[in-house]
Amino acid sequence: MMDRVLVITGAGVSAESGIPTFRGKGGYWRNRQSGSDFDPMKLATPEGFAENPERVWEWYRARRKQIREAQPNPAHRAIARLSIQAREFLLVTQNVDDLHARGGVPVEKMVQIHGNIFVTRCPGCGLSDPGRGSSSDRNFEQEQEEEEEMIPRCPECGGLMRPGVVWFGEQLDRRKIDIVEDFIASGPCDMVIVAGTTAAFGYIIDWAVRASTGEGELIEINLEETPLSRFATRLVRESAASSLPRIVEALACGDVSSL
Ligand code: OAD
Repeated sequence: MMDRVLVITGAGVSAESGIPTFRGKGGYWRNRQSGSDFDPMKLATPEGFAENPERVWEWYRARRKQIREAQPNPAHRAIARLSIQAREFLLVTQNVDDLHARGGVPVEKMVQIHGNIFVTRCPGCGLSDPGRGSSSDRNFEQEQEEEEEMIPRCPECGGLMRPGVVWFGEQLDRRKIDIVEDFIASGPCDMVIVAGTTAAFGYIIDWAVRASTGEGELIEINLEETPLSRFATRLVRESAASSLPRIVEALACGDVSSL
């Protein structure tokens, strides 16, 4: 039984559900030839959106569809089990998909630090449409979206609406940072697991290292080395879906040494 557990995830955790990563093998940003469709400056910045909102919406709609059709994998389900086993638990995910929620992590134990792809919001007046993300509404939502105009207009102010995700050059949501900081400030974690992320952002490394300060284990689960690897107390160079069920089972038995 674990006391305090922080889990940080990235695109690698959803890779085995068929969702492409960004910088992993075959990732959107990794194989990019200049001028290709997957230029992060064109698809994931406010400037790219201002220049060509159709192009941005086309990519996000295709990703929404792909995510709706995907299913949580054993990594999502193992993290959900851990969220219930641990006395105190927080999941910080960079993933904008809903696979952690559909895998069973309670919403109050999770922070989507880079936003939620199913949210559509107005950058002008701040109106936010949370989308109809529940699985029972999925077909309805998809049909409706396919019929919609390519760029949604804000029903309040008429401005162009955008996906509710964090783009390059934008600030993280202060309320979400506060949830993570409060969790870290309220006591050391005995277990920090960082899975499927390149840890390309300093705050990911900072949170993982600070949360595990002292006696805490810092386990990195990733197929490749990352900037976080040198801080980890254990490196698991295996896929998230094959290793996480075993790791969560071992933690439930209090058998950290067998990891
Ligand atoms: P990345 O695509 O940068 O990293 C995915 C990581 O997962 C890589 O380090 C892979 O080695 C690893 N990986 C791939 N498949 C795996 C598997 N089956 N099991 C375990 N590890 C696996 O994704 P993130 O680190 O999440 O932001 O990227 C962070 C942010 O950068 C994203 O949220 C996105 C992106 O640009 C924005 O769009 C703003």
